[in-house]
Amino acid sequence: MKILLIGSGGREHALAWKIAKNDRVEKIFVAPGNGGTAIEAKCENIDITDIDELLSFAIGESIDLTIVGPEDPLTKGIVDKFKEKGLKIFGPSKRAARLEGSKSFSKDFMKKYGVKTAEYEVFYNHQEALEYLNKCPYPTVVKADGLAAGKGVAICENKEEAVKAVNSFMIDDIFNGAGQKIVIEEFLDGVEASILSITDGKTIIPFISAKDHKQVFDGSKGPNTGGMGVSAPNPFVTEEVLKDFEENIMNNTLQGIREEGFDFKGIIFFGLMITKKGSYLLEYNVRMGDPETQSVLNLMESDLLELIESALNEDLENAEVKWNTGACVNVVLASKGYPGSFVKGYEITVDNEVKDKVFIAGAKLEDGVLKTNGGRVLSVVGIGKTVEEAREDAYKSIEKVNFKEKYYRSDIGLV
Ligand code: AMP
Ligand code: GLY
Repeated sequence: MKILLIGSGGREHALAWKIAKNDRVEKIFVAPGNGGTAIEAKCENIDITDIDELLSFAIGESIDLTIVGPEDPLTKGIVDKFKEKGLKIFGPSKRAARLEGSKSFSKDFMKKYGVKTAEYEVFYNHQEALEYLNKCPYPTVVKADGLAAGKGVAICENKEEAVKAVNSFMIDDIFNGAGQKIVIEEFLDGVEASILSITDGKTIIPFISAKDHKQVFDGSKGPNTGGMGVSAPNPFVTEEVLKDFEENIMNNTLQGIREEGFDFKGIIFFGLMITKKGSYLLEYNVRMGDPETQSVLNLMESDLLELIESALNEDLENAEVKWNTGACVNVVLASKGYPGSFVKGYEITVDNEVKDKVFIAGAKLEDGVLKTNGGRVLSVVGIGKTVEEAREDAYKSIEKVNFKEKYYRSDIGLV
């Protein structure tokens, strides 16, 4: 099989590594890929990101299956375009991808199908949004409707902060249109969990739970990032939480997908807030999480390609996903300064003994030398019987991966 994998993050390096394990896979083209997929078994990077060019490439190379990593091409309709040409592709249609691409769309979907979520109001009009801020309880949460690269959510402690957020989203237009419509919602206090899952539109199979660490500094302080590390399973996701999730979030979501007639053969990722009053859905993502994928796939014993094929054949009902009973922790090594400004181009050295524990994200291969090229540079993975063991393993390996201005949180996996 020839596979086309779209994306360039640590998530895609982990996906490529996992898919390559299947003996039927001959070649994986990664578009555009990174310094890790450049040297991963069976992989070759191709420098294409435009959807029409990807389509021409897939036709020209007789690609057997395309797998889409990030949300951007999904919300732009890459799945519909590939399918029109009779190509096999794993991911939701443009319509279904709005579950991630539009917050108001996804909140209305949750409400319609009784998925447990925070109370909210949608605003198109700046004046009405400001009036609402006079009477809503604080803290409150202001969200840009469209995609804003993970920066579109402002937690506001008081009216002054909320007015500032609403003005910057709606008037200053800091998200280039994505904040013209906004959602203002109830603040929920609790701990977060990421539950990635696979669906064929008829069945949803949840993966092992994961705990992202979104803020840049230890103790979950400082600005939000794309994610500084992940432990899986998430210690807060007990049997009871899982049952609540299935009954009040997952099953209702599936019913909604069916009733709306969504063409959804892909990944659905539930971002949960576990509170004293049970679990609430904060958001859907229609793709794997990054860096959740790096931990989750390291614990997946089943063959991912076969699972994807089963979803494409609408046969997940008969599929089973096997998991390692232990734990995995991945710690992100970032460039100092991230998520603000940082310097790129430093050489990265990885000792041989930890080579298979490193998943590359923002780094590229230049004349055979791996160099930093982004904020989140790579993830180092540790495995163990418990999260504590996995954590120790990951932090031991970090010492064997070096580059100038290497920064990482020291508390990933600590509860
Ligand atoms: P989202 O993009 O909707 O997942 O929001 C990004 C982050 O903002 C989440 O991971 C939470 O940390 C936080 N967040 C979003 N909605 C809420 C809420 N209603 N209450 C508290 N925190 C929230
Ligand atoms: N790590 C969170 C995300 O991928 O959205």
